[in-house]
Amino acid sequence: MSETPQQVPDEYELFIDGEWVAASGAETFGTIDPATEEVIATVAAAGAEDVDAAVSNSKAALDEWQSIPARERGRILLDIADAIREDADRLAWIETVDNGKPLSQAKTDVLRCAEYFAYYAGMADKLEGESIPRSDEYVDYTVHEPLGVTAHIIPWNFPVGILGRGLAPALAAGNTVIAKPAEQTPLSALEIGALAVEAGLPAGVFNVLPGFGPDAGEPLVAHDDVAQVTFTGSVPTGRLVGKAALEGLKPVHLELGGKNPNVVYPDADLDRAVESTVKSIFSRNAGQVCSSGSRLLLHEDVHDEFLDRLHTAVDELSIASGVEDPDIAAITSKEQYESILEYIQIGREEAGEPLIGGEAVDRTGYFIEPTIFDGVGMDMRIAREEIFGPVLSVLTFSDEQEAIELANDVEYGLVSGIFTNDIGRAHRFARDIDAGGVYINEWFSSGIEAPFGGYKNSGLGRAKGLAALEEYTQIKNVCARIE
Ligand code: NAI
Ligand code: MG
Repeated sequence: MSETPQQVPDEYELFIDGEWVAASGAETFGTIDPATEEVIATVAAAGAEDVDAAVSNSKAALDEWQSIPARERGRILLDIADAIREDADRLAWIETVDNGKPLSQAKTDVLRCAEYFAYYAGMADKLEGESIPRSDEYVDYTVHEPLGVTAHIIPWNFPVGILGRGLAPALAAGNTVIAKPAEQTPLSALEIGALAVEAGLPAGVFNVLPGFGPDAGEPLVAHDDVAQVTFTGSVPTGRLVGKAALEGLKPVHLELGGKNPNVVYPDADLDRAVESTVKSIFSRNAGQVCSSGSRLLLHEDVHDEFLDRLHTAVDELSIASGVEDPDIAAITSKEQYESILEYIQIGREEAGEPLIGGEAVDRTGYFIEPTIFDGVGMDMRIAREEIFGPVLSVLTFSDEQEAIELANDVEYGLVSGIFTNDIGRAHRFARDIDAGGVYINEWFSSGIEAPFGGYKNSGLGRAKGLAALEEYTQIKNVCARIE
């Protein structure tokens, strides 16, 4: 890990056709370090004209990218992966000061971004079609073709990780990509865009448009020459993006929120369950994770002991600036910080004083104590709404039936977890839960090789694994009469 402070450039422009260019309206915005509340860089803010320029450039780049043999395209993605790894310390530093997260977690995210490029590099030459048996009169086969220009709207919680997750499979399949990073955290996408072109990606295949949702995101999603949209973020914005994409009859991949149940039985390995619970909601990105374990469902026989142990573990968590690499660092933005504090106030009104935490940390920057509300019921907002911060809602159940009912009683269905040593019970839970992911005796274990996505209001489509390639390809069927 990087121990010496790294330089962050003072200014960034848009990255189009392998060049840095000012926004057409010369507009800029400052991105802040949420640990210091200071502006760390001034960034060009894209508008509709810039979107037009980037899309027409990305469209023009399709021919060149698709004319490169698939295996060679894969090799370029491997070179990008290597370039990201070589620059990982600097990139992690930039991610930490832009987003707030602990430095070691930023480094993990950067290396994960590299892994996405490496993983999908190997798929570029394996997108095989099928030969379909018919009568002797016909030869019939399928071809998996790219869609064209793909738009990637990136959130602020895992800026570099989610960038790699969407871009790598899109590029491997032969599409060109335009990334619109979140206005809170635009820097890593700009850095990776420039680094990819330096590593050998043809200019225009990967353009980056920093800016705001309504000014840059909206025209990008609606653009006639954008063939597909990938979005990660909130449900309301996801609905808007989904509607706009459907209006243009283009496929859309939505990865939205969660209110994920983490179910603990008395027969579980409690040390493991406590450690995983801490990671699930507090010590990974301060709980600003769509797949956080934000609802803890405790069996009544283990309730007291588990909360005692959890309390002890949470007391040991360090809170400091991301560059000091603590367990919990700053919340990424002032808006999110205020929203979490508002939910803590709602929690106080609904469930009474929190068991622990409940306060902002008295220092510069957007720091919030890990907070646990016990005695939560499903009639409370803190049981149903995504808080997206270090706030845990604890519910109690007495049998399997009640556990699954509570677990499923939300609009979301992203991930879920169960801690038990009863193998039958674990798999009954896996069968009955309405969620795209199930962790058994683990949390956050899903690798980049495994499909990830939501049931219910948690989204549409799948990221990661081979499943993600379906988001970035369309099937052509060829039927030839040979008699
Ligand atoms: P958001 O969903 O509004 O923003 C996500 C991205 O969408 C950003 O890049 C933003 O610029 C862009 N965007 C906003 N409006 C757009 C539009 N009309 N068209 C196209 N792009 C648009 O989320 P926000 O406001 O940053 O966070 C609010 C809440 O969303 C959080 O408290 C959290 O609950 C949830 N969230 C969930 C994430 C996840 O991983 N599923 C990630 C980020 C936020
Ligand atoms: Mg920032």
